[in-house]
Amino acid sequence: MTLQEEIARRRTFAIISHPDAGKTTLTEKLLLFGGAIHVAGAVKSNKIKKGATSDFMEIERQRGISVATSVMGFEYRDVKINILDTPGHEDFAEDTYRTLTAVDSVIIVIDGAKGVETQTRRLMNVCRMRNTPVMVFINKLDRPCKDPFDLLDEVERELKIRVRPLAFPISSGATFKGVYNLYEHNLSLFTSDERLTADASTVEIDDLASAELDSRIGGSYAAQLRSDVELVEGVYDAFDREAYLRGELAPVFFGSAVNNFGVRELLECFIRIAPSPRQSTTETRTIEPSEPKMSGFVFKIHANMDPNHRDRIAFLKICSGMFERNKNYLHVRSGKQLKFSSPTAFMAEKKSVIDFAYPGDIVGLHDTGNFKIGDTFTEGEKLKFTGIPSFSPEQFRYIENADPMKFKQLAKGIDQLMDEGVAQLFTSSLNGRKIIGTVGALQFEVIQYRLEHEYGASCRWEPISIHKACWVESDNAEQLADFKRRKHSNMAVDKHGRDVFLADTSYALALAQENFKDVRFHFTSEF
Ligand code: G4P
Repeated sequence: MTLQEEIARRRTFAIISHPDAGKTTLTEKLLLFGGAIHVAGAVKSNKIKKGATSDFMEIERQRGISVATSVMGFEYRDVKINILDTPGHEDFAEDTYRTLTAVDSVIIVIDGAKGVETQTRRLMNVCRMRNTPVMVFINKLDRPCKDPFDLLDEVERELKIRVRPLAFPISSGATFKGVYNLYEHNLSLFTSDERLTADASTVEIDDLASAELDSRIGGSYAAQLRSDVELVEGVYDAFDREAYLRGELAPVFFGSAVNNFGVRELLECFIRIAPSPRQSTTETRTIEPSEPKMSGFVFKIHANMDPNHRDRIAFLKICSGMFERNKNYLHVRSGKQLKFSSPTAFMAEKKSVIDFAYPGDIVGLHDTGNFKIGDTFTEGEKLKFTGIPSFSPEQFRYIENADPMKFKQLAKGIDQLMDEGVAQLFTSSLNGRKIIGTVGALQFEVIQYRLEHEYGASCRWEPISIHKACWVESDNAEQLADFKRRKHSNMAVDKHGRDVFLADTSYALALAQENFKDVRFHFTSEF
């Protein structure tokens, strides 16, 4: 197969949802379709079990197990599908944000009874930053759900994206009859069976007026469906794939993941319309996947919590060309040539050494502590990919050295953990104290534990009251200087020496934005 053909047949995406909406279940059903697993329950996903939240070691242990399922590759009808798993626990949201920098599209799972929830909204904001194409799967139709039109409106309003249903449900809960597929013009009749690996029975109904519909679902549901479909066709424009690819329009499907219902329709449509690997941007130029020379970037580093195996795995997303085992590549940041004798690929449950990988694929590289998030590998060109920012943290604490004899160990530990993307380090302009910012509170425990066990250093946390950190810049040097002078006690610098404003409250932030019109406030490190 040519490089172009390999690229065209790849779909790299993530499934995102608010915890409990059904992401793990849907992932598993997709893998069953691909034949990548054969029994339900085989996916040990990143999902962190309920009740384990107070025990972060258990969470890390589960995360450790989940390395193998971080990327799940499988083949379906000659299409190579790479699902990038994301942690369900919101304290690890930054992991999820970063994973979204490596995908070409996203499937959002929404619980039909609950509608759009907080985490879904936050994740959608990240998708919007890169105009990532999204598809929506409204799940749990076997339970009493909100009205489908209300759900569609809610998605549109809350996720700020136009929607176009490509399937429409017939009732929900105990009276759930099935889904009419507006894309293929057929009716899938609902049967509840978790063990199904092929979908429920499907009836071709090209003409909704046909009496066949009444005989299948009963007269009143048939009448309801006819009027619903008429309304759908009247209210929504025809599906526009280009608008979907631009991230402006989300096709919507309905189903029940646990019953494996509506999943086939989703997958069939997904492989048809979802994008294959797209262009990537670097500081110097745009990279086409079809360029013959290999390039790629590290979007995630996973450390092993087992003290006997302290190695890390760096996840490399291939952006162009063909990656080869044992070939020398330039590690752009260090300027060193490196080759990898055992790069791994992930096929469902199995991790195996690979000889080649193509754009869209994720390769696991063995790392002894040299790689950082955002590191680029090329065949010689000094590229730096953009679109892999740090996200504005929301939890902050001062970090203090608790053992004066271990100052160096602490510094090294903090440095490496920040490179892994566990948290972000800021230095206060007021007093030079070090502040750690994270997306979730759990990270503080993780950092303390790892500093102690991996670096022999010990730290102490002290509270600091900050609402949000944002990067500031301005073309108006005078106003920026004035801003920094007045906000001196709230200013800090990040690891790269850039100015960061630590707002005490959302009100203080809004006021600063109002009073300093020429200062730009950024919520990610890339601008
Ligand atoms: P997540 O990864 O998004 O957090 O969600 P997950 O798939 O683990 O699903 C959360 C719960 O919702 C699970 O139940 C799962 O069985 C259930 N679920 C998923 N899809 C459907 C569906 O279509 N209909 C219904 N009724 N339930 C669904 P649980 O009790 O939390 O876990 P389990 O013991 O069943 O695994």
